[in-house]
Amino acid sequence: MRVLKDLFDRNRDWAGKIKAEDPEFFARLSEQQHPEYLWIGCADSRVPANQILDLLPGQIFVHRNIANLVVHTDLNCLAVIQFAVEVLKIRHIIVCGHYGCSGIRAAMDNREHGLIDNWLRNIKDVYRYHEAQINALPGAQARFDRLCELNVVEQVANVCHTSIVQNAWKAGQELAVHGWIYAIDDGILQDLNVCVTCPDEISQIHRLT
Ligand code: CO
Repeated sequence: MRVLKDLFDRNRDWAGKIKAEDPEFFARLSEQQHPEYLWIGCADSRVPANQILDLLPGQIFVHRNIANLVVHTDLNCLAVIQFAVEVLKIRHIIVCGHYGCSGIRAAMDNREHGLIDNWLRNIKDVYRYHEAQINALPGAQARFDRLCELNVVEQVANVCHTSIVQNAWKAGQELAVHGWIYAIDDGILQDLNVCVTCPDEISQIHRLT
């Protein structure tokens, strides 16, 4: 119970395999990290950024929470974005949602779930912004899928509205914010084509001059 031996065994095997292929791998990584991407994804165990993109340690900076939300007052997420943009100078921020998200599902009902309701309320706001579009869809599954997608679209906007991203653009830093969605049932990622690369592409009220 106190020592998860199985996990330590797996770790040693994994590190050994990588070292066998590339003896300098960990030594090189320990000097510094140069990831080109920041991933903001769901905490769901079935959506691990490195594995689904087939990337090695050092290649992607990752932040995950329930339902891949970017909340204006979430210091945790904002600190990650600031470090990624200002220090690591990453070039792409990817907000990635997934179909079948339990957080989105919970936000769509009217039951009480406890503390987490304070988090899920952000998703209910997304529903409210797009209520007519979502409700016009036939069937609960289509509405659920669409809210998973629209939640990504709104979180992409929230990333772009931060002063961190807008100041990077102002300083001439090349930075693109992408919205993707992942299907757990076939392992395939889809681009929602909502990429934002400059302040002209965000709503006027959010633009910082
Ligand atoms: Co999820």
